[in-house]
Amino acid sequence: MSVHIGANPGDIAEVVLMPGDPLRAQFIAENYLSNPVQYNQVRGMYGFTGTYKGTPVSVQGSGMGIPSIGIYAHELINDFGVKRLMRIGSCGSLQEHVKIRDIVFGMAASHDSGINDRRFPDMTYAPTADFTLLETAVNSARGRGYQFHVGNILSTDTFYNDDPDLSKQWAAFGVLAVEMEGAALYTLASKFGVQALTMLTVSDHLVTGEQTTSEEREKTFTQMMEVALETAVSE
Ligand code: HPA
Repeated sequence: MSVHIGANPGDIAEVVLMPGDPLRAQFIAENYLSNPVQYNQVRGMYGFTGTYKGTPVSVQGSGMGIPSIGIYAHELINDFGVKRLMRIGSCGSLQEHVKIRDIVFGMAASHDSGINDRRFPDMTYAPTADFTLLETAVNSARGRGYQFHVGNILSTDTFYNDDPDLSKQWAAFGVLAVEMEGAALYTLASKFGVQALTMLTVSDHLVTGEQTTSEEREKTFTQMMEVALETAVSE
């Protein structure tokens, strides 16, 4: 086992889906994977491995925020040999044309986190998605006729920001939506030479104030899962 994941070598697939919520990980394992087996319950951060169309796939809760996903991504890659990490989460839209329930693919992830600022003092690193995964996911979403957007997302450290207008600055520079983990996932995947993608459904709208109902969230979540699983097992 690693420091935070109580699994044995070989328990975790090379492809891992990462929802923030560990109960969401359980839901995905039970509803989308064949023969799921739970490999982790340390700290309640559940992880499961099953198969999708015959290919082994794991699903691991990441927790909320950059420090949490950073720990799990680091251990999945370095202690369990994971090669492909796909965050599946929710986001708040920063743009009028990015509607509630749309899917957002993070081509790049801006951030207000101190972690990369310490890694790159006086320099700015641009965390980016793996292009092959992004292309596959985009083609899958387009082929299914889903509403989606591709672009820059914001990974913020603060859900409850002291300055609610700060998001307007990011929006003015074309950032599509805000979430809390993508930049760390992209940075670590690049550092260790593996693939990563962040895909999000819009759960709330910071411009219009709209929020999704749980029924709407369920429907878009299903659409995102179809795209995520197809991309996860692609060549
Ligand atoms: N801020 C940060 N993360 C989020 C939000 C938000 O408004 N909505 C969903 N994830």
